[in-house]
Amino acid sequence: MPGPWRMPVRAVALLLAGLTMGGVASADPAQGRALYQGTAGFEAGIEATASRLPARFAACSNCHGHGGAGASEGGVIAPPLLWAKLTAPSGTNSAFRSGEEVLRAVTIGMGRNNELLSPAMPRYRLSPNEARSLLAYLEVLGTRADLPPGISANEIRIGTALPLSGPAAATGAAILQGLHDSIDPLNAQGGIHGRTVMLISADTVPRGPAVAVRELAKKPVYALAASLWPDSEPEAERLLTEARIPNLASLVVREKSREAGEWDFDLLPPVEEQQKLLAGAMATCGNPARRTALAIGTEGPRPSSVRWVISASDLAATFEKSATTGGRDECVGFGLAAIGLSSAAPPSAAQRIVLPMPEELLSEGGAASEPWRRLGEAAGRVVIELLANAGAVPHERSTLDALSALSGFEPLPGLPPLRFSRTRRFGWDPGLIAIPARADPGGTARRTPFDPAQGG
Ligand code: HEC
Repeated sequence: MPGPWRMPVRAVALLLAGLTMGGVASADPAQGRALYQGTAGFEAGIEATASRLPARFAACSNCHGHGGAGASEGGVIAPPLLWAKLTAPSGTNSAFRSGEEVLRAVTIGMGRNNELLSPAMPRYRLSPNEARSLLAYLEVLGTRADLPPGISANEIRIGTALPLSGPAAATGAAILQGLHDSIDPLNAQGGIHGRTVMLISADTVPRGPAVAVRELAKKPVYALAASLWPDSEPEAERLLTEARIPNLASLVVREKSREAGEWDFDLLPPVEEQQKLLAGAMATCGNPARRTALAIGTEGPRPSSVRWVISASDLAATFEKSATTGGRDECVGFGLAAIGLSSAAPPSAAQRIVLPMPEELLSEGGAASEPWRRLGEAAGRVVIELLANAGAVPHERSTLDALSALSGFEPLPGLPPLRFSRTRRFGWDPGLIAIPARADPGGTARRTPFDPAQGG
C-alpha cells in the first residue's frame, strides 16, 4: 500500500478540502464576525498575515469597513465584501462562484478571473475553523442578520458606568434618572427601528471604572452612554476600543481633547478648553493690574495680563488680602471646582466662573443634583439621535460615523446645540457665569443652588 506521501495529487486535494469543508471544521458566524471586526485575534497571531500585521491592523474591517461596504484610503480601494457583490460579476470581471473561491482570495490572493489581487490585500493563514467561520460571516455581512454584540432583532442594550455608591452616589443616580427620562418615553412609543432600548448600569466606585466597563462589555452592550469617571481612564478606554464599544456622550472631563480615544465622544469640553475660556474672559474684565485667576488644569493659555494662581488656597489668600487692603483685585476668575470660594470674594470684585457645561444647565433651579439629571437626559437624547441615524442594520462604528451629522443638534429645549468636526471630539463648549462687582450700580449678583462638591 502506498504511504500518504505517494497518494495521487487528487486524493491529497480531496483530503485538504475535507479538512476545511467536512465535519472536522465547524462554522461559527459569531467567531467569523469577531475576526472580521477585530474583537478577536487570529489563531496564528502575528503570523496570520504574510506581512505580519499586528492584530489590530489584520482585522478585515480596517480596510473593508465595519459594514463591509468597502473603503478607500490613500488611493488604495478595498472593495465591498457584501456577499451579493462578491457573487456577482464586477465590471468585466467574473463573479466568485463559491465560498471556496472567496476563501482563496483571502488565503492566497487569487481574485476574480483567476488574477492575483494586489499586495494591498494581505494573505491570511487561517485555521480550518477560522476559514469556515469567516466564510459563514461573509455570507451575512451587512444584511439584517448581521447584528453587532448588544443588538438583537428587538432590543438594543446600552450600558452606563456611573458612581452609584460612595460620595458621588447622588450624582450617579441623577444621571441614571436623566437617561431613563429620555429613553423610557421612547420605548413606550416603540423604540428605535423597532427595537427597545435597554439600559444597563454598572457602579464604578467599588472596583473602579475599568472593572465596571468590563462587566458591561460582557453583557454585552452595544454602546455606553453618559458614563462618568473622574478623568481619562486609559484602562477603561482601552477595553472599550478593543471590544469596539463606542463611549457615547460621556460626561468625563479630560485634561486635553486629544486624550479621547478613537471610540470616545465626550459631551463636555476638556480642561484645556475651559482654561481658554477663562483666559479670554479675564482679558476683558476690569483693570489689567487687578486681575487674578485660579488656573484650570495645566493646559491652555495663561496670558500675562492676568495674575495666575494655582491653588484654591492661594485664591482664598488673595481674597483675604484684598478685603484688608480695600479691594486690590477687581476681577477674579476660577473654574467650577472652586465655586465654593465665590461667596468669599470681596463685594468689590467682579467674578468670572467657568463651567464644564453650558451655563443654561444651571439656570433651572431645583435640587442640587438637577443639572446632573439634565446632563443624563441630554446624553440620552444624543444617543437616541445617533442610534436613529445609524440605521436599522448598524455595525460597531455606525453611531460614531453618524457624529458629524449631529452638529447643530439641540439635545434639550433651551440648551445650546452641539458642535462637531473631524478633529473635535466633544459636543459642548464650556459655559461662563459672570457675577458683576456688587458695588456696580444696577449689577445683580447671580447665585446658583448647584453644589459641585457632588461632582463625580
Ligand atoms: C490592509 C487592508 C486589507 C485588509 C486588512 C483586508 N483586505 Fe481584503 N482587500 C484589500 C484590497 C486593497 C483589496 C483589493 C485588491 C485588488 O483589487 O487587487 C482586497 C480584496 C479582497 C477581496 C476580493 C474582493 C473582490 O471583489 O474582488 C476579498 C474577498 C477580500 N479582500 C477579503 C478580505 C477578508 C475576508 C479580510 C479579513 C480576513 C480582508 N480582506 C482584509 C485590502 C485589505
